[in-house]
Amino acid sequence: MSGGWAGRGARGRVAVAVVAALALVSCTGPGRDDDGFRAGSADLADPYVPGSGNGGYDVAHYRLAVRYDPANDRLAGRAEVTATATHGLSRFNLDLAGLDVSSVAVNGVPAEYRHADGELVVTPGSGLATGSRFTVEVVYAGVPEAVTDGVLGGGGFQHTEDGAIALGQPHSAATWFPVNDHPSDKATYDIEVTVPDGLAALSNGVPGERTSADGWTTWRWAERSPMASYLTTLVIGDYRVDTGSHGGKPLVTAVPSGLPATGPEARSLARTGEIADFLAGRFGPYPFEAYGGVVVADTRIGYALETQSRPVYGPGFFRQGEPNYGVVVHELAHQWFGNSVALAGWRDIWLNEGFASYAEWMWAEHDGGTTAQRNFELQYAATDWSRRTLDPGVGQMFSTAVYKRGALTVHALRRTVGDDAFFEILRAWTTERRDGTATTADFVALAERVSGRSLGSFFDAWLTNTTPPALP
Ligand code: TRP
Ligand code: ZN
Repeated sequence: MSGGWAGRGARGRVAVAVVAALALVSCTGPGRDDDGFRAGSADLADPYVPGSGNGGYDVAHYRLAVRYDPANDRLAGRAEVTATATHGLSRFNLDLAGLDVSSVAVNGVPAEYRHADGELVVTPGSGLATGSRFTVEVVYAGVPEAVTDGVLGGGGFQHTEDGAIALGQPHSAATWFPVNDHPSDKATYDIEVTVPDGLAALSNGVPGERTSADGWTTWRWAERSPMASYLTTLVIGDYRVDTGSHGGKPLVTAVPSGLPATGPEARSLARTGEIADFLAGRFGPYPFEAYGGVVVADTRIGYALETQSRPVYGPGFFRQGEPNYGVVVHELAHQWFGNSVALAGWRDIWLNEGFASYAEWMWAEHDGGTTAQRNFELQYAATDWSRRTLDPGVGQMFSTAVYKRGALTVHALRRTVGDDAFFEILRAWTTERRDGTATTADFVALAERVSGRSLGSFFDAWLTNTTPPALP
């Protein structure tokens, strides 16, 4: 579903206009056949992720069934992708990094395909009309490859000592299934993972039935809220899985089985429900059908990631031997900011990280620690204002200019409009944009509407200008 991207965002409207212009041009140009079908574009022109995402269709659902054998690191998969053509399609692309494709069918009919350089190009036997719903079934296998693009140490599908972890931002999904790999095309998922008996296989959403046959166990997961592809995860290995519930929804947590139930990892995850409720009190109702969290042991996972409904936490956060609630607050805050309301493009990454970082300040104050105002003052004094927060450049996506200057912006907004308008803005945002995508321009417009103030120069000063903004 690309709802907000094509229909709502300011950038979306520009993109629609550009596509319309291209369509006019290509009426007489090459690449368009007599029936009005043309090739879907091979990327979405997001400069932060060249080559990622594809045009010409909008995915509604992925049905994935993968089998992974840690003994030889081989993955065998079957993906059924249900999508709607957004223009007449003679062919279209899916992103798939590595792996060998053995068959592709469109609407049950074998299709021609070519797979090279991370693009699976599918040519159906006949064109797909604008607005038509179609399914693509891809059968594939191989040894998955990790991503080594240098943005925060890479990601993707990584073989571990006891299994594997698929995780990463902005790249991960295409290393284990064919996907429209851009956050602007959200979709729901059914994920089935088959692993040798005795290993756990965790993923996103609500747990389904678990079945075993011939030494293999199949774990089933359903994510029924639209999810950006980088928020998918697979964690396979030797884990102690705890399946409970919170507020009537399933809560699934897991820690490596070597770690004690009373250790800092398990104790941190144990407050997941309570912390989600704290955030719901400020942001509005928790947006998904399940809760959870997974702590992994592999030290190559140097970060945590807000994978939908079930964040993954690297081991480094718990190295001090004490629980780390701040990181749980951060990843759970993303369930509202980044996941339920997702990015139309990566230039707006501060909409994720600024709010998740600000949530840590609110929690610290609630927990009797440093107040948000004090954190704001300390961070203001420490900030290098030469680095911009909005559209920071790909190398700065996960920098303090995004996280900390982003949090400063959020607190400055609160000081400027007052607490009542501020929390009304947050709730209006999470309600109106729920399950969609959005841009900074959308946020500014909403903040102006709710507060009744003109905030253009405020946001320029806090997000973009390279001199210190006046204190609010
Ligand atoms: N978005 C994550 C956070 O703020 C951090 C992150 C960025 C990350 N890139 C990643 C985590 C790649 C894992 C892999 O918590
Ligand atoms: Zn974050």
